[in-house]
Amino acid sequence: MPIRNRFAEMQGEITEWRRYLHQHPELLYDVHETAAFVVERLKEIGVDEITPGIGKTGVVAVIKGKSDTKGRVIGLRADMDALPIEEASGVEYASTVPGKMHACGHDGHTAILLGAAKYLSETRNFDGTVVVIFQPAEEGGAGGKAMCDDGMMDRWGIQEVYGLHNSPGLPVGAFATRVGPLLASTDEFEIVVTGKGGHAAAPHEAVDTTLVGAQIVVALQSMVSRNINPIQPVVLTVGTFETDSSASNVIAHQVRMMGTVRTLDPEARSMAEPRIREIAEFTAKAYGAEATVHWEPGYPVTVNSEAETGYALEAARAVSSNVDGETDPIMPGEDFSYMLEERPGAYIFLGNGETPMCHHPAYIFDDDAIPFGCSWFAELVERRMPLADN
Ligand code: NI
Repeated sequence: MPIRNRFAEMQGEITEWRRYLHQHPELLYDVHETAAFVVERLKEIGVDEITPGIGKTGVVAVIKGKSDTKGRVIGLRADMDALPIEEASGVEYASTVPGKMHACGHDGHTAILLGAAKYLSETRNFDGTVVVIFQPAEEGGAGGKAMCDDGMMDRWGIQEVYGLHNSPGLPVGAFATRVGPLLASTDEFEIVVTGKGGHAAAPHEAVDTTLVGAQIVVALQSMVSRNINPIQPVVLTVGTFETDSSASNVIAHQVRMMGTVRTLDPEARSMAEPRIREIAEFTAKAYGAEATVHWEPGYPVTVNSEAETGYALEAARAVSSNVDGETDPIMPGEDFSYMLEERPGAYIFLGNGETPMCHHPAYIFDDDAIPFGCSWFAELVERRMPLADN
């Protein structure tokens, strides 16, 4: 069975919503107009309950099925925020806000979930409750975490959660996901090494932090090669290295470096922070210097649970003949991971065809992907929560 006819009929309307959102991009938690637009549409749609202001500017709405014999509750999530990018896509409905652009297709995700909400609200062919979740600040602000920290999962009794992301390079109408890690964790660190500055010709009277810092950079790579299970993909990159010396004949007093650790394995991730601290602090100590480590946790690994990934794939196969259930993980991060830490669920990639990558100024969301995304949400709900008399 392909996409649902109702969504083919609704595609024009959902595309209009998507393009309106595209023209009015907002960043991080500052998605007030977008959230207001979502609330307006949800009111028109006639959902049972709308609660704005969850996770600062997130919106949660409830749609009740024709029956509720088992107390089942499924969460469906979309992200609403744009990026600080000057649009260069050339589309006629381009961003009207200088320096801001929906370059990751979150306008598409929001419109798709609104379309699914409209259909589910019209038909209600399910036994249980659907909670639709519109989150702010996916692009670096951990809006998904903010909604969870507001108690969203317990407050609405959500039992499992699902989300999708458009995928440039994957044909429109195709779906791809996998059981287990799908996107990486994205932690960052800063190391400051303090020694004793001095004259380049009198190293014995100084503590050379450039040498100490260089030893730390080398030693950090030994964590990847010697401490982490070699079958786990872990990337550690030191991206900056600055000394406070600006002359060739001066020994630097202080060195500052920043880097990132990405992994698909929660265990490797939890090992990285203490290991980086030990390596930096003890290496510095061995040379008579001192190192301080500042650790900035990023998004956790996005891990799809097994049973729910199966349901996600079953729904995708009902909608499309092009479904990859064993796609390779990728190393960007995604803050849907916080919701998957609280509840079982699955994240799936939805084909967006041949466009520039997400976060590129020429990126274009393909509106033909809309009926596929909407149909997937609808299939998922009706298959997971079939009506009692079915
Ligand atoms: Ni995105």
